[in-house]
Amino acid sequence: MIETEQRTDMSKPHWRPARASDLPAISAIAAAIHPDLPERPEVFAEKMRLYPDGCRALIADDETVGYGLAHPWRQHRIPLLDGFLELIPNDADCIYVHDVAVLPDCRGGVARAYIATIEELARASGIAALALVSVYATRPLWERFGFRPVPADAQFRAKLASYGDGATYMLRDLAAT
Ligand SMILES: CC(C)(COP(=O)(O)OP(=O)(O)OC[C@H]1O[C@@H](n2cnc3c(N)ncnc32)[C@H](O)[C@@H]1OP(=O)(O)O)[C@@H](O)C(=O)NCCC(=O)NCCS
Repeated sequence: MIETEQRTDMSKPHWRPARASDLPAISAIAAAIHPDLPERPEVFAEKMRLYPDGCRALIADDETVGYGLAHPWRQHRIPLLDGFLELIPNDADCIYVHDVAVLPDCRGGVARAYIATIEELARASGIAALALVSVYATRPLWERFGFRPVPADAQFRAKLASYGDGATYMLRDLAAT
């Protein structure tokens, strides 16, 4: 009898927890995909240290081809780009998705999978919202996942400025979905 075994096709992009050894690849991908929004490797490393559950690496054929970084935070507060968090707030009421970036050849369904993991994490922690800053023209993409733009006054827009023109703060209410 031929035994069949269900295996993960390792050439197919799949998420796993990010490791310190992924940091050079994560920094290289960030620099390639976000040349105008530079962040220091130490800033990524801090997030991985403070909240490893939210930090995942996308792997295909043993190569790191993307990453997702997220951490608990307060709604309507925007972490400074390239800034240290210092600590995770005790009164966090959202998980803030700092960034998801994937090399072009490996895209297709992977952001959805990452957000599903973060959603599970939030629900398991009793957190009822996800937040992010949409950059470039990604707003419709995030709307597909249930995020909604939050109207921004002048003060809030000034805080968004470090994320470039057209940056939009968005929230997803997990109680509503
Ligand atoms: C953002 C990114 C990670 C998405 O990865 P992906 O694997 O293509 O995403 P997914 O396929 O899982 O999900 C994208 C969804 O939005 C849809 N979509 C893609 N582009 C879209 C667009 N311009 N407008 C509306 N919907 C769009 C897709 O069809 C898909 O929806 P579906 O699952 O219902 O089919 C990838 O494009 C990337 O790395 N971009 C550069 C970095 C970046 O902009 N990161 C976000 C910073 S806020």
